[in-house]
Amino acid sequence: MNISDGHVDADVQGVDIRRRHLEVSPQCKGLSVDNVQQQHLPENNTDTGWLLNAGSSASIATDNDLDGMNHLSSTSFLRRAQSMSIVLSIILSPVAIVLVSIWASVLGGVSWSEGDAKRVFNWHPVMMVIAYAIMNVGALAFRASGTSAYQTSLHSSSSSSSLRNVSTSSIPSSISPDPKKRRDAKSSHASMWTLNIVFGTIGILAVFKSHNDPISGYIANMYSLHSWVGITVLSLYTIQYLVGMFAFSGLCSARRRISNPISMEIHKFAGSYIHILATTTILLGIQEKEGFVLCAYTVESPDVPPEFNVGKIPYSCKISHCLGVVILLMGVCTHFGLAKL
Ligand code: HEM
Ligand code: HEM
Repeated sequence: MNISDGHVDADVQGVDIRRRHLEVSPQCKGLSVDNVQQQHLPENNTDTGWLLNAGSSASIATDNDLDGMNHLSSTSFLRRAQSMSIVLSIILSPVAIVLVSIWASVLGGVSWSEGDAKRVFNWHPVMMVIAYAIMNVGALAFRASGTSAYQTSLHSSSSSSSLRNVSTSSIPSSISPDPKKRRDAKSSHASMWTLNIVFGTIGILAVFKSHNDPISGYIANMYSLHSWVGITVLSLYTIQYLVGMFAFSGLCSARRRISNPISMEIHKFAGSYIHILATTTILLGIQEKEGFVLCAYTVESPDVPPEFNVGKIPYSCKISHCLGVVILLMGVCTHFGLAKL
C-alpha cells in the first residue's frame, strides 16, 4: 500500500475501517454464492449487477439476503453520486469565477489607484473567489485523479475480496494505485494551495487599501462578523498549509516525526473543514456587500407569491445571489465528494 513516496503509508491506518464498508454483512455473503435468482433484480440494473452471478442452481433469496444486496447496491449508488458530485464541483469552479467577474464589472470594475476605493475594493471578492475556486479543485485533486488513499484502499480491498463474483465495477476503472499519478496529484494539491496564498493576499490587501484610502475617506477595519470569520479562516488555512508542507511535502527533513497516520487524518479532516468555513465566509461576504448595494425593492401590495416580483431585484444582486448559490453548491458537492462512504 506504499503508493508513492512513503506518505501514503500515513493514510493506511484508515484502510481497515474503510474495508469494513466494502465487506458485506454475513447475510449478504451468502448472496454471492449463486443462491439468488437474477429475477430478484430489476433488469439492466448495473448497480447490483456486479453483485450477482445467478447460478443455474438458484433458489429463492431470503429477506436478509435482499437487505444485504440493497446495502451493497446503495453503496455503489452513493459512490457513483460521489463521482458526479466531484465533477459538478469542478465544473462550478470556473462558473463562480465568471459570475464574480461579471458582478465586479457591474459594480464599476476594478482599479488599484488611490481615490478609487470602491473599485479597489472590487478586487477583494474577485481574488477571494478565484482563491476559493482553486482551493476547491485542490481539495479534490486526489479524488478526481482516483489516487486518494481512500480510493486506492477500496480498489485493493475489492480486488482481494473473498467474495466470489464481486467485480470492481462500482469503483471507477480510472482508480488505481499508480505512483506517478499520485505524485502528480500531490504536486498539484500542494501548488494550488501555494497559488491560493498569492490570490488571497492580493484580495486582503485590496480591502485594507480601500478602507484606508486618504482621498476616498477612511472606513473602519474588521468591524463585521464576515471579517472576523475571514481572519479565523485565514489563520487556520496558514496553519494547515505550514503543517502540510512540513509533514507531507518532502521539503522538510523533520517530516518523518510528524508524518504519521494520525496527522494525515487530522490534515484531511481539517482540510475539508477549512473548505466549508471558506464557503461560509464567502457567503457572509456576499451578504455584507449586498447590504451596501441595496437589493430590496418596493412593493405597493402584498408581495405574494414573491416570485412575481423577483424581476425587480437589481441586476447586480441577481448576479451575486447566483454567485452565492454556486458557492453553496460547491461547498456541498466538495464536502460530499470528500466523504468516506
Ligand atoms: C491549506 C492547505 C491545505 C488544505 C486546505 C488541504 C486539504 C486537504 C484535503 C481536504 C485532503 C483530503 C483529500 C482527499 O480525501 O481526497 C488532503 C489530503 C492530503 N493533503 Fe492536503 N491540504 C493542504 C495542504 C497540503 C500540502 C501543502 C501538502 C503537501 C504536499 C498536502 C498533502 C496532502 C496529502 C499527501 C493528502 C492525502 C491524500 C489522500 O491520499 O487521501 N496538503 N488535503
Ligand atoms: C474566503 C474568502 C474571504 C475572506 C477570507 C475574507 C476576509 C475578509 C477580511 C479579513 C475583511 C476585513 C478587511 C478590513 O477590515 O479591512 C473583509 C472585508 C470585507 N469583505 Fe471579505 N473575505 C472573503 C471573501 C469575500 C467575498 C466573496 C465578499 C463579497 C463581496 C467579501 C466582502 C467583504 C466586504 C464587503 C468587506 C468590508 C466590510 C467588512 O470589513 O466586513 N469578502 N473580508
